[in-house]
Amino acid sequence: MAILMLKVLPVVLFLIFYVSSSVARSDTYIIHMDISAMPKAYSDHHSWYLSMLSSISETSNAAATATTTTILNSKFIYAYTNSIHGFSAVLTASELEALKKFPGYISSTRDQPLTVHTTHTSQFLGLSSFSGAWSGSNYGEDVIIGLVDTGIWPESQSFNDQGMTKVPSRWKGKCMAGTQFNSSLCNKKLIGARFYNKGLIANNPKLKIPMNSPRDVSGHGTHTSSIAAGSYVKGASYFGYATGTARGMAPRARLAMYKVVWRYGVYSSDVVAAIDQALQDGVNVLSLSLGIGLDDTLLENDPIAVAAFAAMEKGIFVVASAGNDGPLYWSLINGAPWLVTVGAGTLDREFEGILTLGSGVKINFNSLYPGNYSSSRMPLIYMDECDSVTELKKVKNAIIVCKDNLSISGQVVNAISAGVSGAVFISNSSYSELYTRSSFPAAFVGLHDGQSIVDYINKNINPTGSFQFQNTVIGTKPAPRVDSYSSRGPFLSCPSILKPDLLAPGSLILGSWSPISSVAKVGSHLLFSNFNLLSGTSMATPHVAGVAALIKAAHPDWSPAAIRSALVTTANSLDNTLCPIEDVANDNLPASPLDIGAGHITPNKALNPGLVYDATAEDYIKLLCAMNYTTTQIQIITKSSHDCINRSLDLNYPSFIAFFNNYDSNPEDKIVQEFWRTVTNVEEVGASYTANLTGLDDLKVFVEPQRLVFKQKFEKKKYKLSLEGPKLLKKVVVYGSLNWVDDNGKYVVRSPIVATSLVPESP
Ligand SMILES: *[C@@H]1O[C@H](CO)[C@@H](O)[C@H](O)[C@H]1NC(C)=O
Ligand SMILES: *[C@@H]1O[C@H](CO)[C@@H](O)[C@H](O)[C@H]1NC(C)=O
Ligand SMILES: *[C@@H]1O[C@H](CO)[C@@H](O)[C@H](O)[C@H]1NC(C)=O
Ligand SMILES: *[C@@H]1O[C@H](CO)[C@@H](O)[C@H](O)[C@H]1NC(C)=O
Ligand SMILES: *[C@@H]1O[C@H](CO)[C@@H](O)[C@H](O)[C@H]1NC(C)=O
Ligand SMILES: *[C@@H]1O[C@H](CO)[C@@H](O)[C@H](O)[C@H]1NC(C)=O
Ligand SMILES: *[C@@H]1O[C@H](CO)[C@@H](O)[C@H](O)[C@H]1NC(C)=O
Repeated sequence: MAILMLKVLPVVLFLIFYVSSSVARSDTYIIHMDISAMPKAYSDHHSWYLSMLSSISETSNAAATATTTTILNSKFIYAYTNSIHGFSAVLTASELEALKKFPGYISSTRDQPLTVHTTHTSQFLGLSSFSGAWSGSNYGEDVIIGLVDTGIWPESQSFNDQGMTKVPSRWKGKCMAGTQFNSSLCNKKLIGARFYNKGLIANNPKLKIPMNSPRDVSGHGTHTSSIAAGSYVKGASYFGYATGTARGMAPRARLAMYKVVWRYGVYSSDVVAAIDQALQDGVNVLSLSLGIGLDDTLLENDPIAVAAFAAMEKGIFVVASAGNDGPLYWSLINGAPWLVTVGAGTLDREFEGILTLGSGVKINFNSLYPGNYSSSRMPLIYMDECDSVTELKKVKNAIIVCKDNLSISGQVVNAISAGVSGAVFISNSSYSELYTRSSFPAAFVGLHDGQSIVDYINKNINPTGSFQFQNTVIGTKPAPRVDSYSSRGPFLSCPSILKPDLLAPGSLILGSWSPISSVAKVGSHLLFSNFNLLSGTSMATPHVAGVAALIKAAHPDWSPAAIRSALVTTANSLDNTLCPIEDVANDNLPASPLDIGAGHITPNKALNPGLVYDATAEDYIKLLCAMNYTTTQIQIITKSSHDCINRSLDLNYPSFIAFFNNYDSNPEDKIVQEFWRTVTNVEEVGASYTANLTGLDDLKVFVEPQRLVFKQKFEKKKYKLSLEGPKLLKKVVVYGSLNWVDDNGKYVVRSPIVATSLVPESP
C-alpha cells in the first residue's frame, strides 16, 4: 500500500486476555474511596490502600515465600489524592469482591483505554486569523498550561524561552528524567515534563517501552503544546506550505507536559495519575485532546469528567476535545458541565497544487504534496481507468490522466506501482485529506475540471501539462465552517447542558513536530520535519487553552465558569462572509449550536465580555442531584458526600437547550420551559443592557425583565427566559439566540438557544 500514511499515533490498543489454569485472571481497576473512613491507625491514604491490598492478596496465600513488597509492586498501580480519592490496582474478581467489604470502599471502574483526537479528513482550509488579545494579557505571561498528551520534543524552537521571566515560585512541577530526557532540557517556557505508564504496563505486562521518558516520539503532544503556547518561530512551514511565523495562542504562557499516550495505547489509570499531579503542581489551565470511547460516557465512569471536577474546584480551567466521531447527533464526548468542550472548524486557508495545460489554462486543486517536482511541460496522456499497471509502465516522462470508476484508491496504487512521473485523477467522489498527502506529483480533480482536461487532450495533437506545488492561498471563503468529523451534541450523559461550547481552528493546523516521527512519504522515502499540518478536535482544544490563558492573565481572579462564559458569549456565529457558519457535513447548510456551540472563538472580545455567567462547585452538585444521580455517583465525582437538599437542572450556563420531545403528547398541547440566569457585570463602570432575541420562530420566547441596569462592577442581576412550544416539536432542531446589548453598543453578550425534539440515543 503506497498511499502515504502519516505515522500519527496508531492508537493500537493492546488488549491482552490471558486465562490460565494456575493464575486467576486479573484486570486493572480504579477504586474510589471515601477517605473520611480511613482508620486513625494509618499515617496517610497511601499506606491505608497498601494495607488493604496486602490483606486481600490471593498470591500471598499461594506463594508463602513472596514478600509483601513484591506482591504490592505487582498489584498496586497509583494512589490518587487530588483528581479522585482512591487508587488503581491489578485485581482478580475475588480480590475485588474482598475489597468491596472494606469500610470506605465506594465503587470501582475497570481501567479503560482512551484515544487521541487527531484525524485525517476531507477538509483542507486553514489559518488562524486571530492576532490581538495579547496586549491586555501580556501574552498570557505566567499562566501555566498543562497538557496531557504524547509528550514533548523539548528542543523544538516553539519552546525556546527567549525573553521569558523566571519561573513563578508557586510552581511545584518538575522535569522527570528518563530515556533521552532530563531537567536540563526544560527552561522558562517548558517548566514541567512528566510521564505515566504504570497503568499501560499493568494492562500489558510484557510491554517494553524504548522511550521511557516525557520525550515525544509521535509528535501529537509537541503539536498541541505549540498551538497553546508556542514561542515565535520565524520561517516555519510544512515543506513550503503554510510558510510564516509560527506561534501559539499565548506565546508567553508556560507549558507543562504530562505524557500518558504511548505508541501502544493510553489508559485511564495513567490519565488520572497525570491530572492528579498537574493539580498538585499548580497548572492554571488543563488542555485535554483525548477521551474515552462513546460506549460509556457516564460522568462517574469518565476519568476526565471526574478529574476535571477536582480541577474546577481548584480554580483550574479545563478544556477538552469534543471528539472526532461526527457528524451525527449525540456523538460528543468530554461534555461534563464543569469543563469546556471544543469542536473543530476549518480556516480561511487552502493548500494547492496547480496544473497548467499547454493551452495556458490553470487548474487548481488541493494538495499537500511535499516533494520536489519537475515544473517543465510533459505530455498529458489519457489512460481511461488506469487499471493496467503494464500499460502505465509503458508511459515515460508524462502525466497520466485517469478517470475514476469506483476505485480511485486502486488507480492511485497502480500509478505508484508503475512509477509514473505524475498523474491527474478525475472523480466525482470527495477526496479525503489522505489523497492530498500524495506521495508523488498528483492532481485530484472533480468532474468539471476533469472534463476540461479531457476536452483539451482530445482537441490537441500534442497535449502537455506542467505541475506546480506548495501553494498556500489565504483568505478563502466561507470560513470557518464546522468540519464533518467534529463530534456533535447533545451530550448523552448530560443533555440539559448545550454542548459543544464553541468551535476553534482544527483542520490542517500548523504546529511543531517531533523530528524523528515521519510526516510524509515521497516515492519510498520517509520525510521528516519540525512542523506538521494536522486535523482534529485535538488541534482545536489547545487554541482554546491558549486563549483561556490570556483571559486568566488579564483577570487572575476569574473562576473557570467566568472564563468559559467570556469565551462562549463572545464567540462568533457568523463566518467571513457574515453568513451563519456552515456545516461541511450537511451540504454547507447553516450549522446549529449542536454543531458549533456559540460559534467560533473570538479572542479579542473574550477578554472583555461585559457580563459573565458564573457558577460554583455547588451549582454543579445541584445539577447532578436534579439529574437523579445517587449519593454514591455524586461522591465519586465530587469526592465528598451531599444530601441533595437543593436540586436544579437549571445551571447558570451561558447557553440554553430545551427538549420538546414528548412523542406521546397531543399535537395541540403546549408547554412552557423556564430558565433562570444570573449575570455579573465585570466592567469597571455601570452599564445598561437590553434583551434582543433572534431566531426560534417556531416558539414563543419571553425574557423578563427585558432591561438589566448595573450600577457598579460585580453587581449581579437575575432574569428569566421562557420558551413556549408544542410538547413535540415538528422540526428536529430550531435555534436562535438571546443577546444582551448594552446601551453604548460596546458589548453584545450572546447566548445560543436550542429547542429540539431529539431523544437520547447512541449515534
Ligand atoms: C541531559 O540530556 C541531554 C539529552 O539527552 C544530554 O545531552 C545531557 O548530557 C544530559 N545531561 C545530564 C546532566 O544528564
Ligand atoms: C528536493 O531536492 C533538494 C535538492 O536536491 C533536496 O535537498 C531535498 O531533500 C529534496 N526534497 C525532497 C522532499 O525530496
Ligand atoms: C465501470 O466498471 C464496470 C466494471 O468494471 C463496467 O461495467 C462499467 O462500464 C464501468 N463504467 C464506466 C462509466 O466506465
Ligand atoms: C456526482 O455526485 C453527485 C452527488 O453525490 C451526484 O448528485 C451526481 O449525480 C454525480 N454525478 C455524476 C456524473 O456521477
Ligand atoms: C428525577 O426523578 C424525578 C422523580 O422521579 C423525576 O420527576 C425527574 O424527571 C427525574 N429527572 C431526571 C433528569 O431524570
Ligand atoms: C440550599 O439552598 C438554600 C437557599 O439557597 C441555602 O440557604 C442552603 O444552604 C442550601 N443547602 C445546601 C445543602 O446546599
Ligand atoms: C436585535 O434583533 C434584531 C432581529 O430580531 C436585529 O435585526 C437587530 O440587529 C438586533 N439588534 C442588536 C443591537 O443586536
